[in-house]
Amino acid sequence: MSDAAVPANIPPKVQLVTRPLSILESLRAARGNLLEIIPNICTKQPIVSGKTGIVRWHMVMDPGALRRILKEKLEVYPKSDITKNLLRPAIGDSLFIAEGAHWRWQRRAVAPVFSHRNIAGLAPIMSAAAEAACARLEACSGKADLYSEMVQATFEVISNVTFSGSGSMDSAAVHRAINAYIDQAARVSLFDVLGVPTWVPRWSRMFGTNSVSEMKTVADQAIERRRQNGPKEVPDLLDLLLEGIDPETKKQMNNAELRDNLLTFIVAGHETTALTLAWALYLCAFDPAVQERVRQEAQDVLQGRIAGAEDIGRLPYTEQVINEALRLYPPAGFLSRTAQAPDTLCDREVRRKDTVMMPIYALHRNELLWEEPDAFRPERFAEGAEYNRFAYLPFGDGPRVCIGAHFATVEAQIILATLVSRFRFTRVEGRDPKPVMVLTLRPEGGVWLEVEPVSSP
Ligand code: HEM
Repeated sequence: MSDAAVPANIPPKVQLVTRPLSILESLRAARGNLLEIIPNICTKQPIVSGKTGIVRWHMVMDPGALRRILKEKLEVYPKSDITKNLLRPAIGDSLFIAEGAHWRWQRRAVAPVFSHRNIAGLAPIMSAAAEAACARLEACSGKADLYSEMVQATFEVISNVTFSGSGSMDSAAVHRAINAYIDQAARVSLFDVLGVPTWVPRWSRMFGTNSVSEMKTVADQAIERRRQNGPKEVPDLLDLLLEGIDPETKKQMNNAELRDNLLTFIVAGHETTALTLAWALYLCAFDPAVQERVRQEAQDVLQGRIAGAEDIGRLPYTEQVINEALRLYPPAGFLSRTAQAPDTLCDREVRRKDTVMMPIYALHRNELLWEEPDAFRPERFAEGAEYNRFAYLPFGDGPRVCIGAHFATVEAQIILATLVSRFRFTRVEGRDPKPVMVLTLRPEGGVWLEVEPVSSP
């Protein structure tokens, strides 16, 4: 259900529901597009509460209440049973879903892996993926699906920072296994969202367990080989994770914990970054003046080179465009928690076991928080521009903020600046993407754009 009446200066958006949905209707909507269970009033109110069946839920868009959930009352609002039920079969009790002491020691052990220094060391892998994407676009016949191009580019990055050099691994087979694995992890149903108990069978859970076990085997083999062969010259995520140690308890990860965290990085980091890039490229095509400004900046800084670690911090406008793409199309469009104790949010009673949802898509388009929320305006993120930190949560916030945020933004800047410095992207009439929320916010039908080389300075 996309909005046919969207004005020409507004990029594609989801038509949110304007009346309460019955359970059956919600189920039907959520199987197609999870975003469509978000009521439209979520873009106009600080909190919306309701009951679907026996489940009491709240959708929270108030920055103060979000700060309370994500930062001040972390123990009252752990990740929802849903999130855990959904992801545990694929990524075990890794950093993403662990709670309490088991989460804390893993976070302390993994944090140094993602230091700015380590990511700068991995940037050449990102530059190589940007270069390979340029070569593919050179060879394309004028039109390309930039979503699948970006999936390929970010796949090269994540597989090269995790599994590469681990012996004679068939990279096409790894790619297939990862795709099948992510596909399976992405099958979310409304049962999951509303937290129906784990023993209720989910149709999606009955299929595709092979891809998960195949992926686990690939990761186990990579870890084993790396233990035998020692670290690479420039340590990658696997080397860094193998060295990781919790400074407080001195604990290190065993093979199963290493594997689950490695797979977490793939699930959490590969498609999300591809989506950021695909939507950013679409928005550049949507507003050619913005694209021209990105190109100018990138060409001035790069002078014909592929972007690299040294350019981070020198591409402020490119960064603004990425931030605005993450606002309009947040890859993680929906976060959820289960309340563990009674609480009050925006004067509303929250009971133990209530499902507390943070519809990031609606937060980022909330009229109380953003001027012309549906409009594409990168200058919202210009230096000195002000916005409430808890009104903008593409990476979450508080102690459980995305650990890969810097990795993802460095990768996105390197690839976006390189591509726009070398190519002009133009919309294809009638093929604008429709945002659809599965586990992430995807462009249905891909992001088809005309691609034309431009001369470098
Ligand atoms: C643009 C790309 C990305 C987006 C939009 C994104 C978004 C998010 C969000 C919203 C959360 C918080 C979830 C919650 O509070 O419920 C999160 C957590 C996490 N992300 Fe990302 N992410 C991205 C890239 C990455 C990358 C590249 C990696 C790793 C290589 C990664 C690894 C993780 C991990 C491990 C967590 C769990 C952290 C914890 O709970 O301590 N993410 N991400």
